[in-house]
Amino acid sequence: MLSVDKIENLLETKTMGRNLVSFEELDSTNTFCRIHGQEYPDGTLVLADNQTAGKGSRGRSWESPAGVSIYMSLILKPDMQPVYAPRLTLVMAHSVARVLRSLGVKAEIKWPNDLVVDGRKLVGILTEMNADGQGIQQVIVGIGINVLTREFPEELHHRATSLLMATGKTFSREELIALVTNAFEEDYGKFLETCDLSQLLEQYIQLSATVGKEVRILDPAGEYTGYAETVDETGQLLVRRDDGQLVKVLADEVSVRGIYGYV
Ligand code: BTN
Repeated sequence: MLSVDKIENLLETKTMGRNLVSFEELDSTNTFCRIHGQEYPDGTLVLADNQTAGKGSRGRSWESPAGVSIYMSLILKPDMQPVYAPRLTLVMAHSVARVLRSLGVKAEIKWPNDLVVDGRKLVGILTEMNADGQGIQQVIVGIGINVLTREFPEELHHRATSLLMATGKTFSREELIALVTNAFEEDYGKFLETCDLSQLLEQYIQLSATVGKEVRILDPAGEYTGYAETVDETGQLLVRRDDGQLVKVLADEVSVRGIYGYV
């Protein structure tokens, strides 16, 4: 079970995680926030030691065994246009990546919502939103970090990793949760000033596994390959297609694969 005291002692935030709700088991921290988020203040952090129906992106499930990994969701209530909410996935990816780098882990951001080490997925981020005619009610930023996992199911075997598998080290889940929450409060503050990534972009690009690579864009309207030139301040991936055309790829529209493997 996670120690809430330990996390609270390491938090250096004003708002993020100051209201902390921790469960031994949930179906999904994101689903819990979707249903109960209205009852909780901005910056509430919801944790579960295990999830019975962890959600991944594109309707996939997220492997969520007990005691070995981090399943956390932040409830955000920003005063901004709903259209900007998907950018928070990139903000969180930036926060988690720089925390992991500060701990000596060579994590890179696979645009838009994964973090990878040695080409294998270590972290997934799922951002969801409740909005109506009045605007955003809440944005839920869910993060899954594989920390102490020793083995993945067969189908994930070649694509997934954990901090233990990648480094041989035993990281504290509580410390990571606090460090990610601290980093995100700082990055989110910068994001809110302009509602874009302009203040984070330089470091984001340095942390990217996608920029500067040949990529295959799995667009439902037709797959194509090209060169990922950069990410812009709105969070779009700029891809130079093999036919020379520059395409702005929006997260959520497509999947990206490296030409030489998953990254
Ligand atoms: C992905 O497919 O890459 C996104 C995975 C997101 C997983 C996290 S775990 C905590 C939160 N609750 C969920 O059900 N999903 C997210």
